[in-house]
Amino acid sequence: VSSAVSIRHAARDDIESAVTLLTAQLHEHEIASDEQELRAVVEAVIADARHGFMLLAEQHRQVSGIAYVASHLSAEHGGIVGWLEELYVVPEQRGRGVGSVLLKEITQTVQKLGWRALELEVVAGHERAVPLYERHGFQALTRTRYTRVG
Ligand SMILES: CC(C)(COP(=O)(O)OP(=O)(O)OC[C@H]1O[C@@H](n2cnc3c(N)ncnc32)[C@H](O)[C@@H]1OP(=O)(O)O)[C@@H](O)C(=O)NCCC(=O)NCCS
Repeated sequence: VSSAVSIRHAARDDIESAVTLLTAQLHEHEIASDEQELRAVVEAVIADARHGFMLLAEQHRQVSGIAYVASHLSAEHGGIVGWLEELYVVPEQRGRGVGSVLLKEITQTVQKLGWRALELEVVAGHERAVPLYERHGFQALTRTRYTRVG
């Protein structure tokens, strides 16, 4: 099935598809999202590559997956590091290689851009995705992420 998957960088025409997929992803993770704010983020990423990049997976003219990699300038890595903030495949298409095709394109893009590293987090309860990430070269860090909202 993965041979029928095409990947492209999200463009202005993809804004609604991207917002729909990211809304579904956040909803599945029980994260409240504001559609207008989300649209503003998608528009900003598409308009200015310094923010990072967004990829869409398409099969038979239907968008089936999305990835958003945010960039930040890292002192630790001495250059730009990517943060794979969102990776999502629609439920009907999971387990058929779409996520893997997206990850391959992500890692190739990061290499092409000369970024120093690519990082992600696995939320408790989503450990099923770990083998997929390990197959694509990710290793767990012995660190804990903290947040202070606002
Ligand atoms: C995780 C996800 C992006 C993978 O995409 P995919 O197209 O299903 O993945 P592929 O078919 O390329 O690869 C299969 C691997 O994906 C993972 N996977 C498959 N179905 C999954 C699911 N429903 N939830 C989480 N991971 C899944 C497994 O690691 C699987 O490897 P395995 O066969 O060795 O168990 C996709 O399943 C998804 O969107 N899941 C729900 C959201 C989520 O859990 N995101 C990860 C947050 S850390």
